[in-house]
Amino acid sequence: MAVEELHEIAKAIVAEGKGILAADESDGTIQKRFDSIGVESTEENRRAYRELLFTTEGVEEYISGVILFDETIRQRSSAGTPFPKLLESKRIIPGIKVDKGAKPLAHAEGETITEGLDGLRDRLEEYRGLGARFAKWRAVISIKGDTIPSEYCVWTNAHALARYAALAQEAGLVPIVEPEVLMDGDHTIERSFEVTSRTLHGVFTELRDQRVQPEGILLKPNMVLSGYSCPVQASDAEVAAETVRCFRRHVPAAVPGIVFLSGGQSDEQATARLSAMNAMGEHPWQLSFSYGRALQAPALKAWAGKPENVPAAQRAYYHRAKMNSAARTGMYAPEMEREAVTA
Ligand code: 13P
Repeated sequence: MAVEELHEIAKAIVAEGKGILAADESDGTIQKRFDSIGVESTEENRRAYRELLFTTEGVEEYISGVILFDETIRQRSSAGTPFPKLLESKRIIPGIKVDKGAKPLAHAEGETITEGLDGLRDRLEEYRGLGARFAKWRAVISIKGDTIPSEYCVWTNAHALARYAALAQEAGLVPIVEPEVLMDGDHTIERSFEVTSRTLHGVFTELRDQRVQPEGILLKPNMVLSGYSCPVQASDAEVAAETVRCFRRHVPAAVPGIVFLSGGQSDEQATARLSAMNAMGEHPWQLSFSYGRALQAPALKAWAGKPENVPAAQRAYYHRAKMNSAARTGMYAPEMEREAVTA
């Protein structure tokens, strides 16, 4: 597909005030989420939960795209509409997770490599036929002590990300390129900056070498922040400033958007930090969200697997989407949490 068409899709995903719902939890991850609310992870429960999210009235004002899992892109609403069609009818663009997860990297204890390249060309073609217009591949980079991540881990993951991105563009899907530097650990924000910087350097070098067109991708990174168990926690303002400083060094201005993952930050932290970045002023790229937990956590809790709780769960999801939409223009304020809950 011509890069112009990919560029149009990418721009629509990061349109003003809008961002992505990541609802592509793999079987293992959704099991963990359901365990936290005491609900069994059956195919029907997963379908009912995703239907609740996708049919939330009015959320399309804030959500431009949804990332689906292989099972979900093949499922239907209770009225019989395939999920990709249902989303399209609300002008929400369907996307698909195409990686097969992070597996132990040979000769590198404690590090992982993301698998899923074999047969990917055929799978991408099938997903496009099922309605997907963008794709996602997540690489996982851990920080442990002074020796992890190794350059070996950074570059093998960057290479795989670029192979995926080239195939996705060839198939007419906008690749979301996700190199996630995990926030687990007691590392400082300076160490997070250094590792994120090394990772982005590897990723953009490989993307360029493998002829990926930057106008037709979206980057989905971590924010630069203190590890969860670091005794000194950087403020939201510091996180915003260091994150932007890091990305300005590495991300070409031709990339239409950076869509952050939430990675285990609290819902409100993820929103406040995105807002702080956008409040810093004009950036070369759109700064948006592609949150899983930070958009879904309150909804999941409100639902608790009970059909009678669907309206409350939808209100909770709608509210988080609205707060993150405000963060897109730097206009979020914590007081808005109260207002919107009573609205
Ligand atoms: P979180 O926002 O919960 O980190 O999930 C986003 C995602 O898609 C990770 O791959």
